[in-house]
This record gives sequence, C-alpha cells and structure tokens, in this order.
Amino acid sequence: MLCLVFYLSLIAATTSTHGSIDTERKPYIVYMGDVPEIGTMATKDHHHNLLVEAIKDESIAIESIIHSYGKSFNAFAAMLTPEEAKRLKEKETVISVFPDKLYKLYTTRSRDFIGMPLTVARNYSVESNLIVGLLDTGR
Ligand SMILES: *[C@@H]1O[C@H](CO)[C@@H](O)[C@H](O)[C@H]1NC(C)=O
Repeated sequence: MLCLVFYLSLIAATTSTHGSIDTERKPYIVYMGDVPEIGTMATKDHHHNLLVEAIKDESIAIESIIHSYGKSFNAFAAMLTPEEAKRLKEKETVISVFPDKLYKLYTTRSRDFIGMPLTVARNYSVESNLIVGLLDTGR
C-alpha cells in the first residue's frame, strides 16, 4: 500500500506588515502530484517558471519561493498574494493551492503512533528521551 505522508513544515517567513489583504503575501503550498520524472533541477526550473508567470516579476518570484519539493512529491511553497494563488490554481499542471498553516506540536497521540498501548507501564525518564519523526532520505 502506498501511504503518502504529506507533512510540510515551513518556518514562518517574513510577511509584509503594510498593504491591504489583497497585496499581503502569505505562505502557500502549490501541489502538483506525484514525483516528477524530469529530475530535481528541471522540477525547480518548472516551479520557478510557474511562479514568474503568476507573479509577473522575476525578482519577486525569486524572493517568494520558500522551498521546492521534488523528491517525494511535486510541490513548492511560496509567499503569494491571494490573486497569485488564484492564477496558479488555474494552471493545468497544478492540482491544488492552499495556505500553509502553522500547526502547534502536540504529543498526545505519540503513543498511538508508535503502537504503544495504554496498558504499557510508563517510564518518564526513558520517554523524555524518545524522538518520533519522519526522515526524508531523498530516495
Ligand atoms: C526507567 O528506565 C531506566 C533506564 O532503563 C531505569 O534505570 C529505571 O529503573 C526505570 N524506572 C522505572 C520506574 O521503571
């Protein structure tokens, strides 16, 4: 079974503190589906070209990109205005465009995630040193 864990974490990028809602840039995820077969560099170029078309300014496009994802899925994160996000949504190669939300980290489900039943005796000194995570190995 192919299980696609779609976890995108972004460090909050600087947002413009002036201007109206329509011109304010916020982080968005632009999702284009499975891993492209064209290679990482060509994928980055494709993401850049899409951004330039949507933003209509090469230097702002370069500043706006946060990250290109091309190893596990095809997507990029960028600082966009709502209008630019709408333009990207209309592209044939784009599946979805959605605002990136900052999630608060909770560990209340960590035991379920690692398959540890509630009946297992707790040992907090050991548990406090346990890190559960996902690693992108690049394959
Ligand atoms: C917790 O684990 C540590 C390290 O294995 C052990 O030394 C300690 O006795 C354990 N504490 C309890 C309450 O089981």
